[in-house]
Amino acid sequence: MAWNPEVYNQFKSERSAPFFDLLALLKVRPGLEVIDLGCGTGELTAQMADTLPESRVLGVDSSEEMLGDSRKADGSTLNFECITIENQLEKDQRWDIVFSNAALQWVPDHEALFPKIISKIKPGGQLLVQMPAQHHNLTNRLLNELGTREPYATVYAGWNRLSPVLEPGRYAEILFENGSKSMQVFEKIYPLILKDVDALLTWVSGTALIPYLERLPEHLKNSFREDFRILLHQHFPKTPVFYPFKRILLEAQF
Ligand SMILES: C[S@@+](CC[C@H](N)C(=O)[O-])C[C@H]1O[C@@H](n2cnc3c(N)ncnc32)[C@H](O)[C@@H]1O
Repeated sequence: MAWNPEVYNQFKSERSAPFFDLLALLKVRPGLEVIDLGCGTGELTAQMADTLPESRVLGVDSSEEMLGDSRKADGSTLNFECITIENQLEKDQRWDIVFSNAALQWVPDHEALFPKIISKIKPGGQLLVQMPAQHHNLTNRLLNELGTREPYATVYAGWNRLSPVLEPGRYAEILFENGSKSMQVFEKIYPLILKDVDALLTWVSGTALIPYLERLPEHLKNSFREDFRILLHQHFPKTPVFYPFKRILLEAQF
């Protein structure tokens, strides 16, 4: 998928707030082996590494564009690798901490994915994950709806980005079924206050809009964006735009 770090980074503080909430749940002890699944630009991964004494942190991401220069920061305690989360999980390596912020919503089949991730955690280790609760987020639902209209529906031919994200209670069950010793699973609203609908469009352009645009021929990309903007206008007629962005945070020890 064509990620663009410049667009993504336009809302740095809004996007990093849940990362720091997740990081605060990490049980710090010296000498941790840590993996950050879907680390993006690696900026936040590096900030995490700074808080962990004598630990080794590996950030993995499938996007060369997002990783950018981060791989040059290669060192003994912080490393990056361009690889898909799925391929990384095929390796035998196990970790004290498996961390993932705003990335697993892009990986399908969470019923199979989460047990696989948990199998990579050492005894005494911890899982920390944050994902948007996409079923409840209006922008995701509006994109799905627009994709069913013509002329887009013909191009998508039945494709729709159905979210793999489950209800929080199901994650709690999966954690328990896979041996968690303790857990915290909760939803949190991150209030987004944006200047206008165009700012909201830019926010969505950095993530959820990408798979819809990349499947369209050039001549339909702009009209899809514009139709989406009109839909956003209908739902957010006032300025500033207030958008209650709901996310799921989960933490468990094994
Ligand atoms: C919303 S960004 C989050 C980046 C970073 N964790 C942060 O908090 O800023 C999502 C990242 O997940 C990565 N990603 C999506 N699907 C992936 C996959 N299957 N394997 C590896 N990385 C993936 C994307 O390349 C992107 O960098």
